[in-house]
Amino acid sequence: MILVTGGAGFIGSNFILDWFSQSDEPVINFDKLTYAGNLNNLSALGQDLRHVFVQGDICDTAHVASLLATHAPRAIVHFAAESHVDRSIHGPADFIATNVNGTFSLLEAARAYWSGLRDADRAAFRFLHVSTDEVYGSLGPDDAPFRETTPYAPNSPYSASKAASDHLVRAYHHTYGLPVLTTNCSNNYGPYHFPEKLIPLIIANALDGKPLPIYGDGQNMRDWLYVSDHCAAIRRVLVDGRPGETYNIGGWNEKTNLDVVQTLCDILNALAPRADAANYRNQITFVQDRPGHDRRYAIDARKIEQELGWRPAETFESGIRKTVRWYLDNQDWVRDVQSGAYLKWVEKNYGNRQHNERKA
Ligand code: NAD
Ligand code: DAU
Repeated sequence: MILVTGGAGFIGSNFILDWFSQSDEPVINFDKLTYAGNLNNLSALGQDLRHVFVQGDICDTAHVASLLATHAPRAIVHFAAESHVDRSIHGPADFIATNVNGTFSLLEAARAYWSGLRDADRAAFRFLHVSTDEVYGSLGPDDAPFRETTPYAPNSPYSASKAASDHLVRAYHHTYGLPVLTTNCSNNYGPYHFPEKLIPLIIANALDGKPLPIYGDGQNMRDWLYVSDHCAAIRRVLVDGRPGETYNIGGWNEKTNLDVVQTLCDILNALAPRADAANYRNQITFVQDRPGHDRRYAIDARKIEQELGWRPAETFESGIRKTVRWYLDNQDWVRDVQSGAYLKWVEKNYGNRQHNERKA
């Protein structure tokens, strides 16, 4: 089996759902269930025995160590993080705690476990660290896209904390030989994306008749990747990635934020026209910029394409239409998130389970 951290979040839950569509290998899903963790994302699994959920904090080395000893996974896929740049600006402490100290604790537990494995299992073990393109900093309009060799230059507390975690992961390979893999991916979008991030926020606000806030002049650029393409890339790296290597993952889909928001408005105009027939674009509002806002990210994904044969299956046009369709079809999910109902449900249903797992 494999251990996934942060499997109740946006990408982690998509990864687990994708995993079971391809494989029967069980997954232990270890997640603290912060505001961003939502077990409703995995409700399609029902009581599927391949999925073992354990609530816990990656900072708790002893808890992770007992899980590793009990379940003996062949790999750890590490998604758990504080992930929202705006939150890191308002309150960086949680980002240092989870992204830096938490990754350190996890590495320590993984190293102890891996050191005690038999030779063949030690050789086969993998620690896959899921990271971001934001560690490379901000590009100018004519700069070449980020390569794996681009020097780190993080600009927000979030990206600095992820950069620190990447360095720790690298050091555990260099110093102890832990078989690590690091992936640095661009902006994901798709189902179960928490509506504090640009794309789901714009869809939700548009349908609620609220303003569509665009930071600054709307000309900041991001490279967008449909989440299932990211999941497929992680699976490829897990199988054939070379320990100690990093792999950039991106969709070759650079868009300005204004383009993205206008595209969303146009799709909504077609699929869910307003009752008054007004154009959703009329709701666009330019607001004060994010402090330190990185201007442009772009990923050169040739290494993973050439070495591992991965390529995105979705274009931005196909992925964004699927995404809007998903949000239109799953407005209950959005309402539960907005009302906080999913948090109460978790408390009610998983309080005992947490206690039992802890004793095991
Ligand atoms: P998310 O915020 O949606 O989910 C994070 C998950 O981690 C949540 O389920 C949360 O409960 C859990 N978590 C947080 N702190 C924890 C802790 N201390 N112990 C255990 N679990 C904890 O994040 P996401 O967007 O799914 O991102 C997942 C990973 O991918 C992150 O490492 C992020 O840096 C990276 N990443 C995200 C994107 C993106 O566009 N969202 C792009 C590239 C890389
Ligand atoms: O690049 C990968 C990163 O992408 C991940 O590492 C992060 O975890 C993920 O959150 C995402 O970071 P961004 O800051 O790029 O995503 P966000 O959706 O917050 O913002 C996307 C762009 O849209 C960014 O330029 C800021 C802008 N924006 C965002 C919000 C929430 C707005 O203009 N208005 C908004 O209301």
